[in-house]
Amino acid sequence: MNLDIKKKWQQLADEIRSHDALYYQQDKPIISDAQYDTLRRELEELEKTFPELQTPDSPTQKVGAPPLEKFAKVRHSIPMLSLANAFTREDIEEFLERIRRFLGLSEQEEIILVGELKIDGLSFSARYENGKFIQGLTRGDGEIGENITDNLATILPPQLHGNFPKILEVRGEIYMTHENFASLNSTLPEDDKFANPRNAAAGSLRQKDASITASRKLDYFIYSWGETSEKLGDTHKEYIKALGHLGFRTIARFFGNWRQNFIYTLHSLNDIIAFYEEVHKERANFNFDIDGLVYKVDRLDYQKRLGEVARAPRWAIAHKFPAEQAVTQIEAIDIQVGRIGTLTPVARLKPVTVGGVVVSNATLHNEDEIKRKDIRVGDTIVIQRAGDVIPQVVSVDVGKRPANSTEYKFPEVCPICGSHAVREEGEVARRCTGGLMCEAQLVERIRHFVSRGALDIEGLGEKQIQAFWNDGLIKNVNDIFDLANKADIISAREGWGKKSLKNLIAAIEKSRDVTLEKFIYALGIRHVGEVTAKLLAREYSSAENWFFEMKQLASDTTKREAVNNIHGIGDIVADSLTDFFSESHNVEIVEKLIARLSIKDTKIASSNSPVSGKTVVFTGALTKMTRAEAKERAENMGAKVASSVSAQTNYVIAGDDAGSKLKKARELNVTVLSEDEWLELVK
Ligand code: IVH
Repeated sequence: MNLDIKKKWQQLADEIRSHDALYYQQDKPIISDAQYDTLRRELEELEKTFPELQTPDSPTQKVGAPPLEKFAKVRHSIPMLSLANAFTREDIEEFLERIRRFLGLSEQEEIILVGELKIDGLSFSARYENGKFIQGLTRGDGEIGENITDNLATILPPQLHGNFPKILEVRGEIYMTHENFASLNSTLPEDDKFANPRNAAAGSLRQKDASITASRKLDYFIYSWGETSEKLGDTHKEYIKALGHLGFRTIARFFGNWRQNFIYTLHSLNDIIAFYEEVHKERANFNFDIDGLVYKVDRLDYQKRLGEVARAPRWAIAHKFPAEQAVTQIEAIDIQVGRIGTLTPVARLKPVTVGGVVVSNATLHNEDEIKRKDIRVGDTIVIQRAGDVIPQVVSVDVGKRPANSTEYKFPEVCPICGSHAVREEGEVARRCTGGLMCEAQLVERIRHFVSRGALDIEGLGEKQIQAFWNDGLIKNVNDIFDLANKADIISAREGWGKKSLKNLIAAIEKSRDVTLEKFIYALGIRHVGEVTAKLLAREYSSAENWFFEMKQLASDTTKREAVNNIHGIGDIVADSLTDFFSESHNVEIVEKLIARLSIKDTKIASSNSPVSGKTVVFTGALTKMTRAEAKERAENMGAKVASSVSAQTNYVIAGDDAGSKLKKARELNVTVLSEDEWLELVK
């Protein structure tokens, strides 16, 4: 093989990699799919003739290799359009008029429309080949969606029946019913609860781990289609009917149940308005959220002629429902404390029916919102429910305000534990600083304390912690180390055998040997994640020294400056540490922990670290750390991080889709490491 061929391969491979990066990472492809395919084919041909060219990192060996943390991006074969919105009768009139004008139809000629529910969920496109489900995508930006095949496979039929076309793409909505939404939320901790069924559906669908999607009860319906290799009819209605026969749940089913009718056919503006009003009235009886109706021109030849404007078809429109509103009175304002300490104000209301649902609470969001609207106890207010479970306050009727009313004062201490509740600069939320003793946060704190990156106690999951907490066996993190003395009580509990208890006690015992950085991280101090904990551990070397210095943060500014001066740590962390150690409860708990654990001192690694004094360059997409993290870690180990490769570079760490820097490194014979190899080196 001559050098020219090798060069050609290199050029092609680089070009493809750069297009991959543009497409997958930046969502900005600069060539068409066809042009891209030509490049790939050329490379494949070349590798077929000269197999020795085919290295494992050749683009032919990876299909687009998207960044690990994300879903792969895939271009829709036919873009997924969105809908224009109509709110009034006039808007609908205009919509019909436009269609008539565009098609050159006289007043006498009928335009048949179909009316459908507009379910409030998340749209998807699913591709079937030879009747088998092969790919599922989110809508994305309409052009490129995310590959959620595994997730959708848990919801859609895997195999079609009947006379299916060879290629068929169906489009529809994933949603969650009210019952499933409520039962999912009842299993989630306060801060993780979803605000509405739509969010719950989206959060459940876009899971890296498809088994989580499978465990959430999601529903779907089909309202449209994309690529099809054969025609299924001449009208929208015929298509939907045909899709139903192939085994899909379609929008028609709902109507079938509800009105003993397939998709509702509308002949005139009056029909449309009557349909709208009827569904609007019925809305509260559906067991899923709808945010309006969709009207579509039934004839597909008309649809084709009408085409689209600004990514929305001219042949369809969404008729939105106004948000449901009601007037009531605020009886009290309560503060809820979430499991990471966020204080959320909630208005307790005189119960009132809004859109068919009795409402007795409204969220007030935060301190600023209350101030902005000057919301007070006793106020008469208008509330609104727009799909969300917890309604919001729209306005206050100041005229009806009681004479003795006073401005609401947001508490500065946690209503649960009495610790200071602080508000960081630039943050809207006030947070309780009593992390280690605040009942509202305890289960979460303990869960964090025993988690893998922290004390790593196996066998103590959220469920067990919650149960121990309910029984009063664990009131704070220190109590974990007394569990061995309570073995009798625990073994009487359901689910604890001799062996599992023995294992738990052994795991707790083992966890006493912990590094300072893990210990600091385990405390769950706000803004002190693993990287910051490591920096602190390096700086202060021993637990005793660290604790001694931290206790003085509030009273001694030089101590605070010392924290601030640590490379990689700034005001935010310094403030957070100061707040944490200003709470005497926290100090007591940490003191006790230090006394009973055996916390290993941190050795200063930088001078004898394998990368000390070396110059390194990161390139490509890293999957286990951000660029900032990678840089910080390298610098902490005494390395210099450069942005371009030169003869002085010692290591190039190449992530996915590395391009010109990697090439240069190879040319200059610089050692190239994968992300994993690098992590092994700086361990
Ligand atoms: S038709 C070109 N029909 O509403 C046709 N969409 O606001 C595009 N939606 O992205 C959509 N129910 O997620 C259509 N019966 C229905 C629908 C529906 C819900 C959603 C869909 C779409 C969004 C547009």
